[in-house]
Amino acid sequence: TSAFPIISQKEVTTHRSLEHGIWVTFKGGVYDITKFVAMHPGGNKILLAAGGALEPFWALYAVHNQEHVLEMLSEYKVGEL
Ligand code: HEM
Repeated sequence: TSAFPIISQKEVTTHRSLEHGIWVTFKGGVYDITKFVAMHPGGNKILLAAGGALEPFWALYAVHNQEHVLEMLSEYKVGEL
């Protein structure tokens, strides 16, 4: 079992600004990436995924398909869908 709370898709969509926090989903996980946004090597493009799923964007930018990127993402996990 998981130690993370269940978070609804609807709740995730309310977190798409620096003011309200920037959350994304990936493979059923929910991530609060607010503090990572300014460190993103790909710049502000990351904000396109704010409040929604990373999958469609990472399908286009295959640079994310690496173990070290997934490890980085895992540090920001806050819940599960
Ligand atoms: C590059 C992380 C979301 C676009 C990278 C790199 C990391 C990273 C670690 C460097 C990879 C490497 O060179 O080994 C993340 C994380 C994301 C995220 C943790 C979400 C939480 C996005 C989104 C987009 C995007 C949503 C596009 C809409 C890019 C681009 C690069 C990049 C274009 C290449 C930058 C360059 O080398 O010039 N990202 N990314 N990223 N990312 Fe993201």
